[in-house]
Amino acid sequence: MTTKVLMVCLGNICRSPLAEGILQNKVNADLVFVDSAGTAGYHIGNQPDKRSILVAQKYGIDISAQRCRKFNVQDFTDFDRIYVMDKSNYENIIAQSEKESDQAKVELLLSTGDSNIKEVPDPYYGGADGFESVFHLINNACECIAINLNTK
Ligand code: 4NP
Repeated sequence: MTTKVLMVCLGNICRSPLAEGILQNKVNADLVFVDSAGTAGYHIGNQPDKRSILVAQKYGIDISAQRCRKFNVQDFTDFDRIYVMDKSNYENIIAQSEKESDQAKVELLLSTGDSNIKEVPDPYYGGADGFESVFHLINNACECIAINLNTK
């Protein structure tokens, strides 16, 4: 059976596209389906931010074919796990949940790893170095998720 994982941030152009590409790169596509979405609809249909595309490319991951979409309540049914980048994303998603089993699917991405930092900072208004550090935060968390998924 395929495990379906959804990565969520605010805009779905910086952090969650990276999380989607990074996790996809670590798992068997026959066993794990990965997607991403944003809580806001500012950039629907757009490619990920150039800076996310570039940092992913630097580490051999192509996220350029992804297109932005907005989170919707159907995602609670369609996905087994929903990883959010920060507490604001968490509050937003939980507010849309209709039952406890929906809420149980939602988790901060960095709660899965050994990072002291619990939120993936929003790199949108910063420079390329912000995207580099965000890449590594997400990569470490996805490594733990992938190990867990692949050994089930
Ligand atoms: P993301 O970053 O949530 O990591 O995709 C953002 C992208 C766009 C905006 C904010 C955050 N924005 O305000 O347009």
